Amino acid sequence: MSEQPTVTFNDGRSIPQVGLGVWRTPNDQAATVVSTALRAGYRHVDTAAAYDNEKGVGEGLRAASVDRSQVFVTTKLWNAEQGFDSTLRALEASLERLGLDHVDLYLIHWPMPKKDLYVDTWRALIRAKEDGKARSIGVSNFTAEHLDRIIGETDVTPVLNQIELHPRFQQRQMRAVHEKLGIKTQSWSPLGQGQLLEDPAIARIAEKHGKTPAQVIIRWHIDNGLIVIPKSVTPSRIEQNFQVFDFKLDAEDLKAVEGLDDSNGRIGPDPMTADF
Ligand code: A2P
Repeated sequence: MSEQPTVTFNDGRSIPQVGLGVWRTPNDQAATVVSTALRAGYRHVDTAAAYDNEKGVGEGLRAASVDRSQVFVTTKLWNAEQGFDSTLRALEASLERLGLDHVDLYLIHWPMPKKDLYVDTWRALIRAKEDGKARSIGVSNFTAEHLDRIIGETDVTPVLNQIELHPRFQQRQMRAVHEKLGIKTQSWSPLGQGQLLEDPAIARIAEKHGKTPAQVIIRWHIDNGLIVIPKSVTPSRIEQNFQVFDFKLDAEDLKAVEGLDDSNGRIGPDPMTADF
């Protein structure tokens, strides 16, 4: 296996480009899933308070006996906890559940513009970084308008924005916004929640490289400089999804995947109207 690639943030820290996503992974499976991933070579796990599996993720981190300093752990602040004091309390609660004294990355999960608390919440993340509880801070599901506002009001730029991104919803506009601001793009639901694995164009590329459709899609994210967190609870898939460092997509493959982009390809909620 070739060495796994990393991406460097605007705060000087770096993140392994491929991580394990655990959305919809039940807490009682999370420990096994995380320790399986660490044994397969993953050094990056992405959870959230809302996933209700931080406890299991923490157990998995300890079970695999990989040094804490070698694993990049992300969690996210849930919408109900937005606000300065409540955010700091929520981070403490996440750390307690994870059994950690810091996370490598803390994200605001959704902007929730109707609440209008995301700037105060961002100020709390800045404090958490100063206190060493979060080594890096970022956001998720922010639009250009939300990014401009937090940067304008605090002068602190998030290291990344985690957004829905897969071949059927390629987010070219947001990627250009991020590029301009020095923010890295992280892809959630990178496999389109599995819906893209049957696509004939992906299947053709997979056959050409002797790889699976999932591996081709993960490689597409890597080759586009994106940070990618495929989710699986299946050990063989967890392993397979990490066997992506020994091939590259060529110009023809990239062009074929580009053609799958669809402005109506969004699967999850729209951040402007999300209400939960
Ligand atoms: P499972 O967790 O049952 O193994 P996304 O990361 O885009 O949200 O996609 C996650 C979905 O894709 C899950 O349903 C997961 O199934 C499935 N999946 C993940 N990796 C693979 C793979 N290598 N082959 C087939 N399905 C996969």
